[in-house]
Amino acid sequence: MTKTRPISDQVREDFPILRRLISPGVPLIYLDNAASTQRPQVVIDAISNCYREYYSNVHRGIHTLSEASTQAFEHARHVVAEFLNAGSPREVIFCAGTTAAINTVARSWGDANVTRGDTILLTIAEHHANIVPWQQLAERVGCRIEFLVIDEAGMISDDRVAEALQRLRPKLFGFVATSNVLGTVFPVERWVRLAHPWGAKVLVDAAQAVPHGPIDVRQWDADFVVFSGHKVCGPTGIGVLYGKQEILQAMPPFLGGGAMIHRVTTEGFEPAELPEKFEAGTPPITEAIGLAAALTYVRGVGLGAIQDHERRLVERAMSGLSQIHGVRMLGPPASERAGIISFVVEGVHAHDVSQYLDTRGIAIRAGHHCAMPLHKHFGISASSRASFYFYNTLAEVDQFVSAVSDVRDRFARTGRKRSRSVDSRQSDN
Ligand code: ALA
Repeated sequence: MTKTRPISDQVREDFPILRRLISPGVPLIYLDNAASTQRPQVVIDAISNCYREYYSNVHRGIHTLSEASTQAFEHARHVVAEFLNAGSPREVIFCAGTTAAINTVARSWGDANVTRGDTILLTIAEHHANIVPWQQLAERVGCRIEFLVIDEAGMISDDRVAEALQRLRPKLFGFVATSNVLGTVFPVERWVRLAHPWGAKVLVDAAQAVPHGPIDVRQWDADFVVFSGHKVCGPTGIGVLYGKQEILQAMPPFLGGGAMIHRVTTEGFEPAELPEKFEAGTPPITEAIGLAAALTYVRGVGLGAIQDHERRLVERAMSGLSQIHGVRMLGPPASERAGIISFVVEGVHAHDVSQYLDTRGIAIRAGHHCAMPLHKHFGISASSRASFYFYNTLAEVDQFVSAVSDVRDRFARTGRKRSRSVDSRQSDN
């Protein structure tokens, strides 16, 4: 492993929100980074600077502001392409997020290429964004969806993947690079190599991978890679669909409207070239500019360093949680996962765990984390999840572990159970 420069606690100074108190004397400990990360001042500045100084619509006006906005927006595309090591910025499509990107592939590539009797292969570890669009495709065209099941440790062996590919010959194999629940880091490059000889296209959901380590889409050789801006210190409302140029070129546009056309007559339309073909309407302009600032910022922190830092945090947290009686962690050992730990505290509902931790200023997520089939696979309906980023510290991890230990003591002592009405009110998360 190459040596990286350790991340200093100084990095926290870049994030204004990390200075806030949740209640008097109780600082924020933000451990909900898999749901969404926080923004450094440079990202906030890039967005507000655009609105203050040069905002206009892009690709439309012949005036100073429009040219400045267009230049910044297209520069953002270059920054993303470079970050991913894409072959060309034309392979970078801006959309609203991971969900919109997967829906675009399912609607455009799916409708054009998948027919009755075909198979889409997924894993049970997918979050809903990489399940529901394929189920909708199945409703439209009559294809089948098959799921690779994970083992007790939250892993899937290469042999199982190879066997399923050979047996099912799927049209597409879609899988998450890093599970948002288990933290499992799946071997993207190896699975792509297994899938292609069987003619399957591969879609990689990299929402939890792009923010947390180095990425190289050409080395992965995946056909589609998707991620969201807000999980990598960028704005909400923007995500990226990376696709190999020849595949995107052959796909019909999905959303129709302005900007995605070359010519429109009363008889029909001619689509624009890539990437505009997939960017109908006014695009997320300031969001793209903010995303570029975010990617440049995390690159400056160092993706290798981020990975190493999160590994230290997750090791410390797993070792601490493993000492607490009645706490069960889902997923693989620390060496096989990113900075995500979902866990169940025996006899205590996940919402109670989260609510108690909140009194200590600690933000975690409770529920099914948009992954109901995975929770069902484990025989549970909800879990608590702590997810780390590079601005978290070992001291925060210790406070988190100590708060979980207190939760267990307190609720085990009182035997308090949450009311059903609260459970159902909060169940859709
Ligand atoms: N998939 C996102 C999460 O894990 C929303 O929280």
